[in-house]
Amino acid sequence: MTSIPLRHGAGHMPALGFGTLIPDPAVTITATRDALEAGFRHFDCAERYRNEREVGRALQAGLAAHGLAREDIFVTTKLWNSNHRPERVEPAFEASLERLGLKYLDLYLIHTPYAFQPGDEQDPRDQNGNVIYDNGVTLLDTWRAMEILVDHGKCRAIGLSDIGLNELSPIYEAARIKPAVVQVESHPYLPETELLEFCKEKGIVFLAFAPLGHGMTPGPLEDPVITAIAARVGKTPAQVLLAWAVERGTALLTTPKTAARARENFDISALPEDAFDEINRIQIRQRLNPVVNTGVPGFIPKAS
Ligand SMILES: NC(=O)c1ccc[n+]([C@@H]2O[C@H](COP(=O)([O-])OP(=O)(O)OC[C@H]3O[C@@H](n4cnc5c(N)ncnc54)[C@H](OP(=O)(O)O)[C@@H]3O)[C@@H](O)[C@H]2O)c1
Repeated sequence: MTSIPLRHGAGHMPALGFGTLIPDPAVTITATRDALEAGFRHFDCAERYRNEREVGRALQAGLAAHGLAREDIFVTTKLWNSNHRPERVEPAFEASLERLGLKYLDLYLIHTPYAFQPGDEQDPRDQNGNVIYDNGVTLLDTWRAMEILVDHGKCRAIGLSDIGLNELSPIYEAARIKPAVVQVESHPYLPETELLEFCKEKGIVFLAFAPLGHGMTPGPLEDPVITAIAARVGKTPAQVLLAWAVERGTALLTTPKTAARARENFDISALPEDAFDEINRIQIRQRLNPVVNTGVPGFIPKAS
């Protein structure tokens, strides 16, 4: 399996990652177990997904069942918007570690660049239903607290998510410990080429979420260019989209919920060059997740 080196000698990230944004706790457990079984060794979590305990339980059981060690997997989780105040960062990190049942994390990300009112309410709203932001903390303040986690040795690398070049660039310049990873939405309808180039130049791993366009239709999975290539090379549209992402040098996160889909999404092979170029020429541009505009998560069902 392709792995991508992280800066500062912080290990390698397996390019194929399993995302745990799954609202149902029972499905979280079976899907995580199936992903491990299919060969996934990279797991993406978040305190905001409210299922770190289930993911942790599935991972402990899966590691034991397959004779794997903690070092054999790569685990990420994310700091939520209501914990951006520097004094809240380490407690939030420790709480995630405890829920996951882990002693260290491979990667900790600032989930979005938006600070919400500090506290335990993940979605603070005023009486008009508007998000209450926190103007008393900057992204750099939060980053400085993230750097201290690396100093303390419980977190091998740190990074950012749902961020654009305008916000990433000043953090990169000011950082004592540079971001190792940037996690953003990316698929053929949102290639984020400029950000990808920046990341490659600076040695930052570009980690794509929604590589299948979050399964939305119409969307990349049903794009005629993708379905034609899939038929030509004898792969499924999902496999073509994931292979494209790996081939352009990104890591990716996908969320298969059944064992069959986990095997399908893990069974990726290189595309012929002409197919890769054809996908690069797709002109449609569409962002599916509005989280980058507000910090309010787009793919989490309201009821959760
Ligand atoms: N940083 C952020 O703000 C952020 C935001 C969103 C996501 N993420 C992370 O990225 C991960 C992946 O995101 P995502 O959910 O958008 O991933 P995705 O894999 O692009 O989309 C998942 C959807 O694709 C469908 N699917 C999965 N495998 C398929 C296949 N082989 N053929 C056809 N359809 C398939 C699933 O359908 P079924 O449900 O029917 O299986 C589901 O609806 C998340 O779990 C999370 O870890 C991060």
